[in-house]
Amino acid sequence: MREKIIAGNWKMYMNHVEAVKFINDLQKELKRVETAYEIAVFPPFTSLFAVSQVLDKDLIKLGAQNTFYEKEGAYTGEVSVSMLKAIGCDYVIVGHSERRKYFYEDDAMIALKIKASLEGGITPILCVGETLEEREKGKAKEVVKQQMEEDLRYLSKEDIRRIVIAYEPVWAIGTGKNATPEEAQEMHEFVRETLNCQFGFSEITILYGGSVKPENIGELTRMKDVDGALVGGASIKLDSFLGIIKNVYQGGD
Ligand code: 13P
Repeated sequence: MREKIIAGNWKMYMNHVEAVKFINDLQKELKRVETAYEIAVFPPFTSLFAVSQVLDKDLIKLGAQNTFYEKEGAYTGEVSVSMLKAIGCDYVIVGHSERRKYFYEDDAMIALKIKASLEGGITPILCVGETLEEREKGKAKEVVKQQMEEDLRYLSKEDIRRIVIAYEPVWAIGTGKNATPEEAQEMHEFVRETLNCQFGFSEITILYGGSVKPENIGELTRMKDVDGALVGGASIKLDSFLGIIKNVYQGGD
């Protein structure tokens, strides 16, 4: 189903004390904001439990930034889907470009993580996106299509309804240079076309990620295939995250 979501990927920022303060402050403000968008935060693993203890789930949903695909076992340093579920996570980010780049996650592993997330009852947010070099060579769509085909390989038509995709062009992440609304729209439309070819269904939530800020969220979410945003840097400052939530396109004109 297509839902509107503003998600904050905190990356490796905020320990559990800072995280709890941030959530308390954010919730105070959100009580005064009317929005059709669901708000979700993705703190680091060590802050998840503390955040879950103060979170008002009517205001904010909780997600993790990563998971492992095995249910349990001798996997030093890993965290399972059921552990995240037990803490109260509704979402998990899978295949973020930073994990692909710095931790060598490949599509085979990402496909297993997507499958495990669904089996464990957590909605995976699959990140796809091309590098600058790939875009300049005219290969952006080819890259995204290949990621989707490989990462969603185990899913059925029923499963596909339960995932979220985030289009995050690598060249836009943390650079201050966002995709234009037209570039985002073109790729989001292409993602839907690809889903239709793969599964005969494309009415799922597709978020844009990459240098989203209060100044550009309105024009990005105005695009017909952009259902919201996965926000990095601007999600860990109260003012900018609130600014994004307030400036989102709500429809109507
Ligand atoms: P920035 O918003 O900092 O560019 O990061 C985007 C991102 O990686 C969200 O997952």
